[in-house]
Amino acid sequence: MYIFKAAVIGAGAMGAEIAQVISFSGLPVVLKDVDQAMLDKGMARIRKIYQGRVDKGKMSAGEMDGKLSLVTPALTYGDFGDVDIVIEAVPETMKIKQAVLTEIAKAVPEATLFASNTSALSISEMGRYSGRPGKMIGMHFFNPAHVMKLVEIIPGLDTTQETVDDVVQFTESLRKIAVVVQECPGFLVNRLLVPYLNEAVLSLQEGAASANEIDQKMQEWGMPMGPFFLMDMLGLDVCAHVGLYLEQEYGSRMHGAELFVELVKAGRLGEKSGAGFYGYGNETDEPTKKMIADLQAGGKVRKGLPGFDPDRLIMPLINEASLCIEERIASLNDIDMAMVAGTGMTYGGERIGPLAVADFIGLDVVVAKLEELQKKHGERFRPSRTLRTKVRAGHLGRAAGKGFHEYSA
Ligand SMILES: NC(=O)c1ccc[n+]([C@@H]2O[C@H](COP(=O)([O-])OP(=O)(O)OC[C@H]3O[C@@H](n4cnc5c(N)ncnc54)[C@H](O)[C@@H]3O)[C@@H](O)[C@H]2O)c1
Repeated sequence: MYIFKAAVIGAGAMGAEIAQVISFSGLPVVLKDVDQAMLDKGMARIRKIYQGRVDKGKMSAGEMDGKLSLVTPALTYGDFGDVDIVIEAVPETMKIKQAVLTEIAKAVPEATLFASNTSALSISEMGRYSGRPGKMIGMHFFNPAHVMKLVEIIPGLDTTQETVDDVVQFTESLRKIAVVVQECPGFLVNRLLVPYLNEAVLSLQEGAASANEIDQKMQEWGMPMGPFFLMDMLGLDVCAHVGLYLEQEYGSRMHGAELFVELVKAGRLGEKSGAGFYGYGNETDEPTKKMIADLQAGGKVRKGLPGFDPDRLIMPLINEASLCIEERIASLNDIDMAMVAGTGMTYGGERIGPLAVADFIGLDVVVAKLEELQKKHGERFRPSRTLRTKVRAGHLGRAAGKGFHEYSA
């Protein structure tokens, strides 16, 4: 199916940028919200992105006007009679999404595809509310959508292969990298990132090192930014919400750190609120340090020995990636590509994902490190069955010619 016109519901942080991405590809797009102020803000955001291109000499003012004219702001469904795909980016609660899907179903033709930008909610469940489960799919853009190349494509239980193919093709026409991911809580990138980020907070609250030291070490390791800087940017309320959901779904290996709860309770939500792990503007990180001291003094968190090793964050990320292989959530290459495109991770100067990193380190070394961490910190580090089996089979990674990937001599 060729897509001639699109619609985005919700003109917030994600919706506005998704509409910009669609208009940039040359397609007309309706941007709908229920709130005129949000709609104005969304349109202003789109104009600002284009203006940035004009200022950098990447586009003329005339071209900008042409692209802007492709975006139609709307408060009603009046312009939805000929849209081929609708992407919803309304707030992350199933109740709101359900109401919106039911409304859209009445406003669009039978053949229209339904996509959701949800970060975690069930696409299969949304399929029920859409009234056309075969045409419902997850289309998970990353923030900021006009910059980040990755889009996770998530079929629900009833999504047809035709819908998957159409949406992958549409995503590629937006000049994005589409990675098909089977439905699971957190999908792929967030599922792998949560244990990594959580372990950073646990290390901090146990007193292993300061936030700044941990951020620096992770950047030296090959991450484009440290975990605390990243969480402050994402918003600690958002991280806590996703973390809690993954803990409910996966159990104790995703157990959230206590410091998160304290920071959110105190309104330290990250950069957007002026303070999170760090302080911004006139704020400092002293209140965060005091919270850690209080948690430790109250015996509410474990007090560990000083000293931080990046392996504590990287090994659970690799382990979770290997569980995704076991569960067939995505292919080997897609997992690595999604993590590179979604997080910007590198290793030894190469842009490689977690499974290729494991091959580089040696799977026997990865298993030994996980077992050591398991003894020190608990069951959440238990090496996956896949990792153990590969080690037993001698598939030890790059040096052995075969690990997760295969290598020619
Ligand atoms: N913010 C992120 O970093 C991020 C990243 C990836 C995915 N997501 C997902 O994208 C979705 C939107 O997130 P966001 O951060 O853009 O939210 P947001 O709160 O910035 O924007 C939501 C918008 O939806 C509008 N809205 C509410 N009810 C509506 C309705 N019934 N009809 C039309 N519009 C309605 C609101 O007025 C608001 O403008 C969520 O599902 C979220 O999980 C967010």
